[in-house]
Amino acid sequence: MTEKDLNNWMTAISGADINIEDSQKAYGQWASTYNKDSEKYRFNNYLKIAEILQGLYPEDKRGNTTILDIGAGTGLVAKELRKHGFQHIDALEPSEAMLDEARKNNLYENYFVEFITESPSSIPANSYDVLTGGGIYANEAHVPCGAIHEMIRLVKSGGYVVIAASHDLVRASGNYKELETLMGKLETEGKWQKVVRETWLAESVENKTVERIAWCYKVL
Ligand SMILES: C[S@@+](CC[C@H](N)C(=O)[O-])C[C@H]1O[C@@H](n2cnc3c(N)ncnc32)[C@H](O)[C@@H]1O
Repeated sequence: MTEKDLNNWMTAISGADINIEDSQKAYGQWASTYNKDSEKYRFNNYLKIAEILQGLYPEDKRGNTTILDIGAGTGLVAKELRKHGFQHIDALEPSEAMLDEARKNNLYENYFVEFITESPSSIPANSYDVLTGGGIYANEAHVPCGAIHEMIRLVKSGGYVVIAASHDLVRASGNYKELETLMGKLETEGKWQKVVRETWLAESVENKTVERIAWCYKVL
């Protein structure tokens, strides 16, 4: 990994004690080469998200399924989903520079340039069949645990939330200590129901093996 790649990766995604401003600045500087580095270092959460959604939606239903991809970045999740017949995909992402890369390839229908938090976003409730998030949980400068409430608000009853991330980064971040506890509490409260929780080992930066994790919940 070149020093520049390593700095961007550390500051944007993986470094500890990074604030949102610095992480966002690093994503901005990285945007034009992010896709190349993603391929090189296999940031391929999008493959698992696409695999799960292919299992849930038969081919003839995919064209009508509405999806909100949060932490959309340069659009890697949408690019993969489009290959499998999903066509109606919107992006929610705070970094204009990352979204500009997605815009170049017309990957999304609508672009919401904002952060998802525990408070309601600009998008009305029950707007989508599916919400996806690839790599949205990383160091402290990423999607907060409480944003799960907002994810559930945005998805129609009977729809799905599908998230994939580095389990190692989730475990390393102080932000996510209560993440799975909150997921379980919302299941007990009847807000959603677990469909998938899967972990697997994958190669990543500097040929290290990382553990990845995916969750899929059905919104009730
Ligand atoms: C590791 S990148 C993943 C990008 C893309 N999903 C992918 O799979 O390549 C994480 C993205 O989440 C975005 N992000 C960080 N905090 C966010 C928040 N609170 N709401 C929405 N997106 C956020 C970052 O700007 C960044 O583009």
